[in-house]
Amino acid sequence: MTIATQSSVTEPAVKRAIPMNIFRQHAPLTAVCLENRELVGAGGIGTVRHLVLDTSAGPYPFLEGQSAGVIPPGVDAYGKPHKLRLYSIASTRHGDRGDGKTLSLCVRRLEYQHPQTGETVYGVCSSYLCALEVGAEVKLTGPTGKAMLLPDDPTATVIMLATGTGIAPFRAHLWRMFREHNPDYEFRGFAWLIFGIPTSPNILYREELEDFRRHANFRLTYAISREQKNARGGRMYIQDRVAEHVAELWELLQRDNTHVFICGLRGMEDGIDAAFAGHAAQFGVSWAEYREQLEKAHRWHVETY
Ligand code: FAD
Ligand code: A2P
Repeated sequence: MTIATQSSVTEPAVKRAIPMNIFRQHAPLTAVCLENRELVGAGGIGTVRHLVLDTSAGPYPFLEGQSAGVIPPGVDAYGKPHKLRLYSIASTRHGDRGDGKTLSLCVRRLEYQHPQTGETVYGVCSSYLCALEVGAEVKLTGPTGKAMLLPDDPTATVIMLATGTGIAPFRAHLWRMFREHNPDYEFRGFAWLIFGIPTSPNILYREELEDFRRHANFRLTYAISREQKNARGGRMYIQDRVAEHVAELWELLQRDNTHVFICGLRGMEDGIDAAFAGHAAQFGVSWAEYREQLEKAHRWHVETY
């Protein structure tokens, strides 16, 4: 089976300019924190913060789906300045305030038990960002990344698979599709977000996501791992939801302007592949080959970490 490559509708006549690495580690942009709020509700697990950063000292142009680098202050264990960490930009190019002078991030504070000592370890950059005070400066590099760019085609079918902070680029996509009214992009395709999170209070941006349900062409499915069970009685993961809906997803993939975006935990990838592989086999299709063609057609987009 062969699949159509990007249709003439999705292939822009003039290749759009993608801003890349305008700011680098040796010459970063100094942004200022305008907002830093908690996204995890009471009873949820861990800390995830939504930050709005003022980039007006730039400008800092970017497209929905790109990432920004953050350079945490201070030095590492070897006395060298900390290296930058990447964060998906969670706002559209216009920013949460609509003036094109901010970008937003969605940051989980990394916290784990040291495998040898058992001591609780907190991540350097994520802890720094989660504790960033309003008015504080932050050094940014970028923007970077082409993998998660939203297709220009306003009639595209956009399937978004996110775990945790993997929601960040999809918040940008959804704002562009359903919240902003851009003369150059009036979305009239179909968008389906499948979102994996541990508990209900961990549903990041829940109000915004629920509000988008008003749109008949938006579908939202949660996989709440510690509250819902999969068919085998285990934790409900995103790949279990993909398996549950695989016939519909497969049908959608047959349209030549359907794009699949995957963002968040790397661990979900094999399960998603297994779900599609099982279904594709019924039609005598090798999923590995099929996915390769989707990748070549720039319709399979993955950013996992
Ligand atoms: P560090 O201090 O750098 O610690 C990380 C290190 O801790 C790991 O390299 C590993 O050695 C160790 N470690 C981590 N977990 C364990 C464990 N369980 N057991 C033992 N050792 C462990 N993060 C977000 O929060 N939001 C985003 O939108 C986001 N987007 C990203 C986009 C891209 C393209 C990439 C590549 C990453 C993204 N990340 C995002 C992850 C982010 O870049 C950082 O990796 C993360 O915040 C941790 O950085 P840190 O400085 O806090 O941790
Ligand atoms: P769990 O932690 O219950 O095992 P967050 O980043 O907010 O912790 O959310 C990540 C979500 O992804 C959680 O629901 C987590 O489940 C789930 N998860 C963990 N490991 C995997 C995996 N290998 N595949 C898919 N989902 C996973």
